[in-house]
Formats: sequence, C-alpha cells, structure tokens
Amino acid sequence: MTEQALAVEGLRVGYGRVEAVRGVDFVVPAGSLVTLVGANGAGKSSIINAISGVVRPRGGRILFEGRDITRTPAHRLVRDGLVQVPEGRQVLATLTVEENLLLGGWHTGRGGIAEVYDRFPVLGERRRSLAGTLSGGEQQMLAIGRALVARPRLILLDEPSMGLAPLVVDEVFAVIGEIRAAGTTVVLVEQNARRALRAADHGYVLASGEIVHSGPAAELLADERVVQAYLGVET
Ligand SMILES: Nc1ncnc2c1ncn2[C@@H]1O[C@H](COP(=O)(O)OP(=O)(O)OP(=O)(O)O)[C@@H](O)[C@H]1O
Ligand SMILES: [Mg+2]
Repeated sequence: MTEQALAVEGLRVGYGRVEAVRGVDFVVPAGSLVTLVGANGAGKSSIINAISGVVRPRGGRILFEGRDITRTPAHRLVRDGLVQVPEGRQVLATLTVEENLLLGGWHTGRGGIAEVYDRFPVLGERRRSLAGTLSGGEQQMLAIGRALVARPRLILLDEPSMGLAPLVVDEVFAVIGEIRAAGTTVVLVEQNARRALRAADHGYVLASGEIVHSGPAAELLADERVVQAYLGVET
C-alpha cells in the first residue's frame, strides 16, 4: 500500500451560511504532485486553509502521514513539516527579504535560509531589500522560499502562478518541479488547470465545493467532458 502523505475525508468548510466545501475526499501519496483545479469560488482555498490549520473545518477529518491533524494549529503543523504558500503570496512588504524568510523558519534557524538562497540566488542578492520592492515573480519566489525554510515534507501551493507573466509562470512551474524532484510532496491549487494538470500525477476537479471529476492528470486532460466543462479553451 502506498504511504499517504495526506488524506482528506468528508471535509466540510463554511462561513456563516455559505457552504464552501461540501464533503470532499482525496488522498495525496507521499512524493506525488496532486492538483485541485476549479473556477473562482469552487472552494480551493478553503480546502487548503483547512488543511494548513488556518480555517477550522465544520466536519470531516484530515490525516497527515496517518496522524489526525484536523484540529492541530497552523504553527504546530509548520514545525511538523506541513507548510502552506498562501494565495496572493502574502509577503510582508515593509520587512526585508531576509526578515520574511526568518518568519518562515524560526525553528530551522539560518540553515534553512542558506538553502533558500542557494535555490533562489536573486533572493540572496536582494536579502536586504524590502519585500514590497520585489517584482511579482520575485515575491512569489520569496513566498515559496519562506515555506521551504521550514523544510516541509508536504507543501500546499495556492495559485502560485496567479497574476504573473507567462515567462515567470514557466519559472514558477520549474521551481515546483524541482521541489517535487527533491522528494517533497506537493498539493497545487490552480485556476490555470491545464498547466497544473500537465505538472501533476493526479488531479481533482472541484465545482461548488464538491469534487466532480478525479483521476490521473493525463486522463483528465484527455477527457473531453472535463476539458469542455472545466478547462475552457486553450490559451
Ligand atoms: N472568509 C470568508 N467569509 C465568507 N465567505 C467566504 C470566505 N472565504 C471564502 N468564502 C466563500 O466560500 C466560497 C469558496 O471560496 P474559496 O476562496 O475557497 O474559493 P477558491 O476556489 O479558492 O476561489 P478563487 O479561485 O477565487 O481563489 C466562495 O463562495 C467564497 O465567497
Ligand atoms: Mg482561492
């Protein structure tokens, strides 16, 4: 049996009267890249935020490496190896690059930061610059770097390509491929469904808080019903 890095069972997330996630199940085998794709408001971020401990689920269970983490607070999950790169990057604009990285790895110290500078030389060069002065692509690298400082075994990426120019999107996907090749399990949430499915082993298509299709990513890409209903025209 494959070891599951993550298992989500019957997950429900809501806000007041809004039922954002309505009973979602999926698994993420250790070492794999799994993508959740779906339109605006489908519930992607709500799922990611529930896994990372940012939002308290209304129901269901979340298992990380077989342990129930449904009610584990976010800071403990970071220490235990589960880290999120939030939607919209959320770097702290008025802190320096290095200060942002320090926030990601209070428990790994300087060693984690040195590894990030090795991977992203531009961040090392700009270490004393305010994060708000970086380009959008550099800020996304900083957001990813801040997560890697914690040396995660599971990384959750929420729309890392959003708002970036095509060449920078290529760079982000290259970095995601490297993270995965280094042995880290990846959950990737994207509106850029086609691109995400090309990078993924397995995909789940979400609509209105429910999974409507799932399967090996290549099969979803080849499925006319999925392509027409959820992936839109090729751009
Ligand atoms: N804090 C909140 N309070 C109230 N409603 C919320 C909140 N966060 C999300 N929602 C609602 O929950 C639903 C799912 O939102 P969610 O952000 O999870 O979707 P998403 O798939 O990440 O969308 P996007 O692609 O736009 O990021 C939407 O109807 C949204 O309006
Ligand atoms: Mg979202």
